[in-house]
Amino acid sequence: MLNAALRKLFLALSRNGFLRRRLPQLPFMRRAVGRFMPGETAEDALAAALVLQRDGIASEYTRLGENISDMAEADAVAEHYVALYGQIREAGLDGEISVKLTQLGLDIDEAATLDHCLRLAARARETGSGFWIDMEDSSYVDRTLRIYERVLAEHPGTGLCLQAYLHRTAADVERLLPQRPRIRLVKGAYDEPASIALRAKRDVDANFLALAVTIARATPTGVGLGLGTHDIRLVEQVARHAAAAGIARDAFEVQMLFGIRAGEQRRLATEGYRVRTLIAYGDAWYPWYMRRLAERPANVLFALRALLP
Ligand code: FDA
Repeated sequence: MLNAALRKLFLALSRNGFLRRRLPQLPFMRRAVGRFMPGETAEDALAAALVLQRDGIASEYTRLGENISDMAEADAVAEHYVALYGQIREAGLDGEISVKLTQLGLDIDEAATLDHCLRLAARARETGSGFWIDMEDSSYVDRTLRIYERVLAEHPGTGLCLQAYLHRTAADVERLLPQRPRIRLVKGAYDEPASIALRAKRDVDANFLALAVTIARATPTGVGLGLGTHDIRLVEQVARHAAAAGIARDAFEVQMLFGIRAGEQRRLATEGYRVRTLIAYGDAWYPWYMRRLAERPANVLFALRALLP
């Protein structure tokens, strides 16, 4: 009950424009977010990824920022990622890139956003990397799927995030599977009404398991399924179902965020799971950080500890 109220509160705070401008300037906030981000620059992220790679953990990058208001900003974001693909290759990293479409201009110009995605997916192939599209709140799902299907048709191997809390996701999965997608399944991070999304954790977890098993069965060889969750019990349940269907645990990938359950990430890697850590960087971290606090209100204690000198 308290957790649900706190979740709602932090999700509301994540959308507050005044706080978005002011809070990131406070030193204690900068210290607190450091738990989930190795630093604000791409170089910080790449350096952290090199350390993870020594433990057999691959990486994935996202520069924080969403809902830009001018297409020139989107063009700059795309240029940044084009250059990052080169840096990933030069560093010898098994690293991929994951983007939010609103960061590439989805609120302003869908056709130009598609062009940016096609360019990034082409660059991913050219550099032997991967391109992922994140999923934002439910008002973006149709547009995101439209763009994803166009990109996937030209660039097989492109990945999409789908949210297990949405009632519609089972139908979306069914429609996508014949197109040989690569899907990162997550529980879902936004505040959605009961008409659109499952609200009880138990129901979301059950839907996650059912969807993950369906996707794993449909993509038994290539890495078509990413489990974007820190819920180890759920990962192990999926692995058991997959094993029963003759699917090895390295036929799917476990994806977690930097700084969350780091010890478990290493343990899974040593137990033969493919593990990929999503490393966020950049200075526009406020709404993203508020969503991390919403997921686990106990994180607020860590944030408060950062108030101490
Ligand atoms: P759950 O919330 O049940 O947590 C399971 C356990 O993990 C908790 O008990 C806790 O121990 C630990 N944990 C979870 N969150 C934590 C946190 N913030 N801090 C500390 N411990 C924590 N969402 C979305 O809507 N669109 C997207 O594109 C993405 N992309 C994405 C990529 C990747 C790689 C990940 C891991 C997650 C996302 N998400 C996302 C976020 C996702 O929807 C979800 O909100 C979080 O992963 C939290 O849910 P869990 O599945 O981890 O389970």
